[in-house]
Amino acid sequence: MPFYMDIVQHYGKKAGDISAVLRAHYLVHARILPWRTPPGSPAPPNPYHVWLSEIMLQQTTVAAVIGYFGKFTQAWPDFAALAGADDADVMAAWAGLGYYARARNLLKCARIVVAEYGGALPAEEEELRKLPGVGPYTAAAIAAIAFGQRAVVVDANIERVVSRLFAIGEPPLRAKPIIKQAMDRITPAQNSGDFAQAMMDLGAGLCSAKAPKCAACPIAPYCAAYQAGAAEAYPVKLAKKAKPARFGTAYWIERDGHVLLVRREGRGMLAGMRALPDDRWTARKDGDRLSPFASNWRILGQTVQHSFTHFTIEMRIAVTEGPPRSEYGEYWPINSLDKAGLPTLFMKAAKAVLTGR
Ligand code: ADE
Repeated sequence: MPFYMDIVQHYGKKAGDISAVLRAHYLVHARILPWRTPPGSPAPPNPYHVWLSEIMLQQTTVAAVIGYFGKFTQAWPDFAALAGADDADVMAAWAGLGYYARARNLLKCARIVVAEYGGALPAEEEELRKLPGVGPYTAAAIAAIAFGQRAVVVDANIERVVSRLFAIGEPPLRAKPIIKQAMDRITPAQNSGDFAQAMMDLGAGLCSAKAPKCAACPIAPYCAAYQAGAAEAYPVKLAKKAKPARFGTAYWIERDGHVLLVRREGRGMLAGMRALPDDRWTARKDGDRLSPFASNWRILGQTVQHSFTHFTIEMRIAVTEGPPRSEYGEYWPINSLDKAGLPTLFMKAAKAVLTGR
């Protein structure tokens, strides 16, 4: 630790230079994104937009988020509207974005903001952290970007930029606090939200994980990894563990142009989402292959694959005609299945059934 802090202290003398050079670059090159106010703009950012975008951007790329952000702000333009929404509508609108606990927390959070904060987000990082779905990263990002508070923001892109800037060669767990301290050292008192977003843009563009474009980077003159000719060596990554590969079954139960959908219960990763019935596979075990009822099940020739964070699933699909009524779930019209809000995995299964019909 002391060794790195010496380096950070040394560069710390230039901390002002780093943020000034980056700001000049950002003023010209900032990505234009629907939740952002351009740097230097007189209009204050909309905290609802900043919060919503930061929740959506957790573990998710900007490209994937843009469409969802537009859809959500149209349907629910502020905290009051979102707090008054039907849970089912919000879960369905989130379908395809993944990490569905975020949608459940989004609603909880909007309702707390309305009930306990008069419909406006608190501005303090510490207060923000108490809200559902708002962890240390998100609290810092919102405080800095939406409220102009000085906060030290570290996401995965910033981690990469900072670990290169100071050539921090520790393994991930040990590197984390060092990176946070180093980011603290270079974060300016003013405009720390712009600074964080400039660092994010650098990480998303020039300072890419593979083949970083150091020749075009405005802060390459300050970058220890670049000076050592070893930008790609940082951050240090541990060898990836292979994900467990699970096997399961989804049941396509059809009747008169409708397919049977269930709502997933419990607190698991897809809880609250509509889905095809399945044979109870989880991250930890394969499905039990017990169908919901005795029938003449036909197994589709093709399986579908999906990758979650901690495991992959290969699903076979069993098809049959359903009873006129079912206690398992609701029959949903197949020609508007895109409106059911099925998670991607089940949309893949539906496509496998329906293509070639
Ligand atoms: N990723 C997380 N927050 C972001 C932001 N405000 N701009 C760009 N990428 C981001």
